[in-house]
Amino acid sequence: MTGFRELAGSVAIVTGGSRGIGLGISHALASAGAVVAVVARDEAAARDAVAGLEGDGHAAYSCDVADGKACRKVVASVTSAHGPVSVLVNNAGVTRDNILLRMRDEEWSRVIDTNLRGAFNMIRAATRGMMKRREGSIVNISSVIGLMGNAGQANYAASKAGLHGLTRSVAKELASRNVRCNAVAPGFIRTDMTAGLPEGQVAELKSRIPAGRLGEPEDVAGVVRFLAGPGAGYITGQIIAVDGGMAM
Ligand code: NAI
Repeated sequence: MTGFRELAGSVAIVTGGSRGIGLGISHALASAGAVVAVVARDEAAARDAVAGLEGDGHAAYSCDVADGKACRKVVASVTSAHGPVSVLVNNAGVTRDNILLRMRDEEWSRVIDTNLRGAFNMIRAATRGMMKRREGSIVNISSVIGLMGNAGQANYAASKAGLHGLTRSVAKELASRNVRCNAVAPGFIRTDMTAGLPEGQVAELKSRIPAGRLGEPEDVAGVVRFLAGPGAGYITGQIIAVDGGMAM
């Protein structure tokens, strides 16, 4: 075990925390000393993730974040099992890409309901306790696509731009209660979500990244760890791109 454990004694929820960027975030928060509740649709995957985390007390929960009632239940279960939640990372996200004229209602709804409504559901469920205790940090994982837009991703871009408005509004509403809310907007990160892209498209994307490489989940996780902790105590309502300079 190395380094300063600035989240020792804190309870953190990471949605979609079982793989990709979310798994990287679960590791980073556990290394910082937090007890991590890994929330995913697939409980077995969440349990596997928990087994690999540093430290004790971490737990797996299954929940579809699009379901408000299920979110309230998860927050209540985490609170009664581990204590009050002081860090919430809304990372669960999906894509259903299609060109505008072919985009089906189901593709639009699934993406908005998971990426945007899901974050709202979790924030609403978790903030009552944070406000009462006057302590909390919420980090929403958006995307540079929410800043730039992208052909074929109108649903995804709208959900992530919506997250930016949600982030700033929550930040303004809760700042006086010492509850902070920020967003991290990753660029192109190597995970299952991007693994299926054709090689030509990856090369083209890479050519637009000043850093000259794709990001790794750890690149995002380190920033989330910082925002979750006391070092970011005076930072709220910010959208921080972690993209190797892509969206400049
Ligand atoms: P991934 O597909 O590897 O993982 C997504 C996670 O979200 C999985 O654990 C999945 O179980 C969970 N999830 C999906 N729908 C859910 C639901 N309804 N309820 C609960 N959990 C659900 O994706 P990746 O790449 O790790 O992405 C994580 C976040 O980062 C997403 O919000 C994504 O939009 C965002 N992002 C990813 C980028 C990339 O290049 N990979 C770039 C910018 C943003």
